[in-house]
Amino acid sequence: MEFEKIIIGNATLYRGDCLELLAAGLLKADALVSDPPYGVGYQHRGGGNGLCGIANLKPIHGDDAPFDPAPWTALPGAIVLFGADHYKTRLPEGGRMMVWDKSCGQGPASSFVDAEFMWTNRKNARCIYRHFWMGATRAGEDGPAVSKRAHPSQKPVELMMWCIETCRIGIGKTILDPYMGSGSTGVAALRSGRKFIGVEIDQEYFGIACKRIQAEHDSHIDLFTEAT
Ligand SMILES: C[S@@+](CC[C@H](N)C(=O)[O-])C[C@H]1O[C@@H](n2cnc3c(N)ncnc32)[C@H](O)[C@@H]1O
Repeated sequence: MEFEKIIIGNATLYRGDCLELLAAGLLKADALVSDPPYGVGYQHRGGGNGLCGIANLKPIHGDDAPFDPAPWTALPGAIVLFGADHYKTRLPEGGRMMVWDKSCGQGPASSFVDAEFMWTNRKNARCIYRHFWMGATRAGEDGPAVSKRAHPSQKPVELMMWCIETCRIGIGKTILDPYMGSGSTGVAALRSGRKFIGVEIDQEYFGIACKRIQAEHDSHIDLFTEAT
């Protein structure tokens, strides 16, 4: 098994195949929050409104075959899996869907979908999250203006933080994202006081995740470093 391991503060990041790392017993965590390849053969073509800033149009690894959630839903603790409508027949009985409303009443004005579904094994009181995020026009950390996305399936950090809080993953607990892409779950975990284990198979996305998580880690150090 070939893999690379990098530790950044409370984050342990692996470049490698998550199923191999899981089988090797290296992915022990308290909870799982992940956005896996959905098995839909998604190929980004720049978006319906032509504003998308993604330069990299390569297919997502693993998206050419049906996603099997079984190795992950068998793990203990809270589970949150994105894209759940695409593999709902393979999910365990029970649990519930949460919805991310991406268009906030304004869409679908383009070819982008206006909602995404997350499955959780937690019984939540709240299950709708509204955060505008259509193509290159997004609310939140990147501002309302057009900016370049780091990954074709990049998720807002605020959304990942909402999942962590809504599913009651305690402060100081370790969150696993075996399909971390550009590392949004990792940034959300560190920002909200959790530890993180992330895996990404693609060298380019792994590098981007390392940079984003390093920047988040450094911002905490800056915050707590006394000015001299
Ligand atoms: C839907 S994307 C996640 C995007 C992420 N939510 C973000 O905000 O950037 C899924 C990622 O899983 C990665 N992946 C697919 N199969 C994998 C495997 N077996 N092991 C590790 N990573 C894998 C893909 O390269 C892709 O970057």
